[in-house]
Amino acid sequence: MSSLKEQIDTERLPRHIAIIMDGNGRWAQEKGKDRLYGHFHGVESVRDIVEGCAELGVGYLTLYAFSTENWDRPAYEVTGLMELLVETIRKETATLNKNNIKLHVIGDHSMLPENAKQALKESLDMTSTNTGLHLIMALSYSSRWELVNAVQRIASDVELGTIKAADVNQDTLQRYLSTSEFPDPELMIRTSGEYRISNFLLYQLAYAELYFTPVRWPDFRKENLYEAILDFQGRERRFGKTSAQVKSETNLNS
Ligand code: IPE
Ligand code: IPE
Ligand code: MG
Repeated sequence: MSSLKEQIDTERLPRHIAIIMDGNGRWAQEKGKDRLYGHFHGVESVRDIVEGCAELGVGYLTLYAFSTENWDRPAYEVTGLMELLVETIRKETATLNKNNIKLHVIGDHSMLPENAKQALKESLDMTSTNTGLHLIMALSYSSRWELVNAVQRIASDVELGTIKAADVNQDTLQRYLSTSEFPDPELMIRTSGEYRISNFLLYQLAYAELYFTPVRWPDFRKENLYEAILDFQGRERRFGKTSAQVKSETNLNS
């Protein structure tokens, strides 16, 4: 029996994988520990999954690390998460460079503490010329924030006369989103047994394949990623067409 990794068809990888890294708190509490202990161990999974995606040749990986709504958590947890963020970015930038990974960040950064802004800026600069995996961290991100922000900027450009309201189409909206440089995710994974999107990439996930696993984020490793990719590769993506149409197109292309 070949390994899970060997079963993956590298010609048909999802171009962009997006992950809701959920379950750190429960993972820790189940061990009788503080929630921050779970976040701390979640960093190990981030390292493993980033490496796994880079090794396979996935183009884009978006990780939902902190939502706009997460600011409402108890202050000690928010502070702990921000400290972990700064420490992790500082420590991992060299590894990102070694693996030719380019970092991007999406979200409302005005909310972040100064040292986090500074650490992110340094890491973004230091990885800006890398040409391998695009690693997109969604930090202080929510899709509704992003959409409102895009609509405001479109409206302001209409007021200025740089675009016409009648010309606004899907391409225009795409250009005003914080994900304008990236293709839409093809596979969205959520860990820890919750079946919801929690304000993540609502527009961009329109045709993503959704994969839910009960595995808590700190236990999620490359093997779990391979399982999700294999599941993705076993699905028929129809984009509104019939199965017969999709099959004849696949035969024509092969
Ligand atoms: C995900 O784990 C990490 C963040 C949201 C920052 P949680 O902290 O949501 O863990 P659970 O869902 O409470 O177990
Ligand atoms: C979503 O997880 C946000 C991140 C993983 C960063 P949450 O734990 O905040 O989502 P809900 O509250 O369960 O929907
Ligand atoms: Mg959660």
